[in-house]
Amino acid sequence: MKISFLSFLMLFQIVSYGQRTYQNFNPGKIWEDNQGVHINAHGGGFLIHDDTYYWFGEHKIAGKEGNKAQVGVSVYSSKDLYNWKNEGIALEVHDDPNSLLVKGCIIERPKVIYNHKTGKFVMWFHHELKDQGYKAAMTGLALSDHVTGPYRYIKSVNPHAGQWPANYPDSLKSKPVNLDEIERWSKEWKEAVVDGIFVRRDFERGQMARDMTLFVDDDGKAYHFHSSEENQTLHIAELTEDYLDFSGNYTRVLHGQQNEAPAVFKKDGKYYMFSSGLTGWNPNPGKSAVADHPLGPWTPLGNPCIGTEDEMNTTFWSQSTYVIPVIDKKNAFIFVGDRWTPDNPIDGRYILLPVEFEAGKPVLRWYEQWDLTFFDKK
Ligand code: GAL
Repeated sequence: MKISFLSFLMLFQIVSYGQRTYQNFNPGKIWEDNQGVHINAHGGGFLIHDDTYYWFGEHKIAGKEGNKAQVGVSVYSSKDLYNWKNEGIALEVHDDPNSLLVKGCIIERPKVIYNHKTGKFVMWFHHELKDQGYKAAMTGLALSDHVTGPYRYIKSVNPHAGQWPANYPDSLKSKPVNLDEIERWSKEWKEAVVDGIFVRRDFERGQMARDMTLFVDDDGKAYHFHSSEENQTLHIAELTEDYLDFSGNYTRVLHGQQNEAPAVFKKDGKYYMFSSGLTGWNPNPGKSAVADHPLGPWTPLGNPCIGTEDEMNTTFWSQSTYVIPVIDKKNAFIFVGDRWTPDNPIDGRYILLPVEFEAGKPVLRWYEQWDLTFFDKK
């Protein structure tokens, strides 16, 4: 029997460190880090910096309490996307009960981007305040000089207090906010939602910002995408040059279409978005959309999943979280989704699938096991 040098090396590594070396993706399976522990970075965001991938995500603990932030945001690094080194906790929750980031608050979908002008790593995340469920609907900001942290918590906001979306017609600005008078889910309610009744309701205090992602364009401009208006409409907001604030320029997109879990990427000058519907931790049919500019308008492209009815109805039992552009491979993108396990969140699994393009649309198929050579065959 011939054993290749590589297999020998792998065997040596397993025997000597008890550590697994991966050479492919196994969506939905336990995925061990360099210490042999299942990766703990849910609702993740990926940053490429100095030819290395960094994976930031919600650190979960066992049991239902694990759905709240007991520890903070984890970070892992990898050179090949298969094998991940645990780099520890990038952003820690606080013990101080007066801090908004106190242990027991909710931190979701953390995303980190690098600002070339300031040399800072900027983290934004969905932040809910302790003991308030999902009511606060804020976005939080943390900052570091080093990619793996520690990140310093700066603030949490309901963005755009006193600012109208760029595409909000003047004719709507003075319309009444008569939410109590219209029956929820009635035709009138839906029309009012599409017309942005919640934008007017939240105009003074600032808008709701729940599921979110960040996207940095080739010109260095960064955009903050978030589910707003009771998750009925997405808001896309330009960040300031230093990425530490909202510039004030923002749009409402896909009005009343109930998008969560946005994940954005750019291919051949066009912007694509995967997202989900609103069923909490339970999966639902995925959605996709395309635009010529991050601020929109966005055109829906339908469910990107191709597979069995069950797979299409559940996005392969996952919810979108990010799209990773592969280093040094043109037009190679990886869809990342979470398979949530809210009863024992630490056991949540990750679905990584290649993004394929058919008739100008991004599509996803299930592959039980695959590797990056997938993109060379295209
Ligand atoms: C999902 C959302 C998750 C989390 C969850 C809570 O819809 O995408 O990030 O907020 O709801 O139920």
